[in-house]
Amino acid sequence: MAFKHIPHSNPVPADKRAELLKNPGFGQAFTDHMVTIRYTHGQGWHDAEVKPRAPFLLDPAASVLHYAQEIFEGLKAYRAESGEIALFRPDANAERFNASANRLAMPELPPELFLQAVEELVRIDKDWVPSGEGSLYLRPFMFADEAFLGVRPANSYIFCVIACPVGPYFKGGAKPVKLFVSENYTRAAPGGTGAAKCGGNYAASLVAQAEAIAQGCDQVIFLDAAEHRWIEELGGMNIFFVFDDGTIVTPPLGGTILPGITRNSLIALAREQGLSVVERPYSLDEWRADAASGRLTEAFACGTAAVVASIGEVVAASGSFSIAGAAAGQVTTKLKTLLTGLQRGEPGDPAGWVRA
Ligand code: COI
Repeated sequence: MAFKHIPHSNPVPADKRAELLKNPGFGQAFTDHMVTIRYTHGQGWHDAEVKPRAPFLLDPAASVLHYAQEIFEGLKAYRAESGEIALFRPDANAERFNASANRLAMPELPPELFLQAVEELVRIDKDWVPSGEGSLYLRPFMFADEAFLGVRPANSYIFCVIACPVGPYFKGGAKPVKLFVSENYTRAAPGGTGAAKCGGNYAASLVAQAEAIAQGCDQVIFLDAAEHRWIEELGGMNIFFVFDDGTIVTPPLGGTILPGITRNSLIALAREQGLSVVERPYSLDEWRADAASGRLTEAFACGTAAVVASIGEVVAASGSFSIAGAAAGQVTTKLKTLLTGLQRGEPGDPAGWVRA
């Protein structure tokens, strides 16, 4: 599809942009442009545009505002030492976007259009891609904009991509994170939308995340909705457990957990290293006992935004515990180094994950 380019009359000046790129934080500074594509029932996808980033004009009855028909993705563009810019597994994001669209009764976006939109934005805002540790976080999303209050799938949608230069997701940088186990709230129930990347899942996590912050923790961790026993995931990250025999355990994808692309990449990288990765239910009680016995040596959270973050402490009403040696976790460090190396264009990408 041909994208119409609407020029920016007032982009952020180069010195201001350089200042923002020095210490971008997460999701606070945005690039100059955005991409939009519209969908109308009967007509399909149309009016693809690359244009100055600006607010949407939305009817107050737009169905996203009432029934939350919205999905999103998160992926990053990285600048290699050579200066070249590459995306990491954007095809996997395009595929997951359509899985989310199906769950939310929204139209699929052809994967090549998803990729084209992301690449158009990276191309026009290439000067916003940080070098060194930072990256450009891309946020493709889609929402229902039809003005209609009946409860049914909308007939019109807007797909959009925005971008922001980002540094570490956690304020403490590489310091091991402290998690709070939510024993009052759950994130996703069997048959619900847990495996879809939809705004509603994140809205539902906020009160539990606020509890975690009030307890002096960085992130909430959710247990399963049926038995309140099995570890599921954090507010926006998957979780891995590392054992003294070299085995790695991560909760299985059973419809209530987001199928993380970082999760999937780390499983493959760990297996390439000869480590055994088991996707199986793992309970809070087991975690506490294994941390106490020393059988569990490391635990880490992962996601596009968070990358790989060591877990140092777990706060829970049923008993808090810490993970000895979290700061120097060898397996965590190895996997993080392998992943970020690939993302930054280091050689050894047999699966073709990096898209220049
Ligand atoms: C991501 O990692 O891309 C997410 O969407 C999670 C959110 C915590 C920023």
